[in-house]
Amino acid sequence: MPHSLEANAPLPTLPKLRIALVVDRVDWHARKLIEAFAKHRVRAVPVNLSSCGIATSTPFGLTIAGFGDALPDAVMVRSMAGGSFQAVTLRLGILHALRELGVPVWNDARAIERCVDKSMTSFVLARAGIATPETWAVEALDVAKAIVRRETPAGSLVFKPLFGSQGRGLRLIHGENDLPAPAEAAGVYYLQRYVGIERDGYRDFRLLVSQGRVVAAMVRHADQWITNVKQGGRPVFAVPDAEMKDLALRATAAIGANFAGVDIIHDAQGRATVIEVNSMPAWSGLQKVTPASIAAVLVRDLVEVLRAGTVREAQA
Ligand SMILES: Nc1ncnc2c1ncn2[C@@H]1O[C@H](COP(=O)(O)OP(=O)(O)O)[C@@H](O)[C@H]1O
Ligand SMILES: [Mg+2]
Repeated sequence: MPHSLEANAPLPTLPKLRIALVVDRVDWHARKLIEAFAKHRVRAVPVNLSSCGIATSTPFGLTIAGFGDALPDAVMVRSMAGGSFQAVTLRLGILHALRELGVPVWNDARAIERCVDKSMTSFVLARAGIATPETWAVEALDVAKAIVRRETPAGSLVFKPLFGSQGRGLRLIHGENDLPAPAEAAGVYYLQRYVGIERDGYRDFRLLVSQGRVVAAMVRHADQWITNVKQGGRPVFAVPDAEMKDLALRATAAIGANFAGVDIIHDAQGRATVIEVNSMPAWSGLQKVTPASIAAVLVRDLVEVLRAGTVREAQA
């Protein structure tokens, strides 16, 4: 009978997906992501970009460790180790190449470049009309000193390493003598208007955005102005208000990231302002105060997009 035949017909099987999970080591985050992918029957292969390369003789012009001559169905970038300028350029080039080959890369090299270089984040945010403190980035010490002389009468500045993370290397600048020497500054002075205020200690917010929505948030309380969890900041669950959510979503969209960790602080007037956007955010602190598995949310968002693409292709 046609009816029962139909009922017994095998369901169209979705092709098995294989994801390259870009990591510098298989840490807690990587393990959580691999587990989350496995729940969707997707194999996530940890890939260190330092073991990949360009190889023009291969079918796709690339070698992706663990994938032989094939391409991954998608790439999720969790972390990239530091290296020489040349090594990092090659690694980002591989991510650019994957995108150009049509592989979805979350986050792609362009978004990563815009976030790793804090001055480009500031530029992109300001151009998009997103509230962010005034920022200058210059190479020459005497130019940096002139900025400090001109700007500090209106309030302190913050010096940050251009490629900094986890609150390392930040300094408050009250006068030109607070600037680090060029060698210590790696030849670049990134200076930002200090907007922190003390209210029984210091605090700022971290919002995690994925696929156009805020999926987790925390407030970080600290005894000093640098609130990163790695610097002793204490994470507490937070429900962000509409202003913060809107800023985080617009900042992530302006950067062109599929997911991002957005740092938001309130200035003396109580206005929310974006301090930083992270395209490779760690979330162990945020996970401590978030009931849902963050890895599961990020993974589901990517798998849904891939499955939707697959189903569309199958139906075409
Ligand atoms: N302009 C600023 N005004 C006040 N506090 C700041 C400012 N910039 C950074 N901070 C503090 O320092 C922390 C780290 O700065 P951030 O720009 O996020 O760099 P990192 O990449 O090291 O996390 C922020 O979470 C915030 O607590
Ligand atoms: Mg930060």
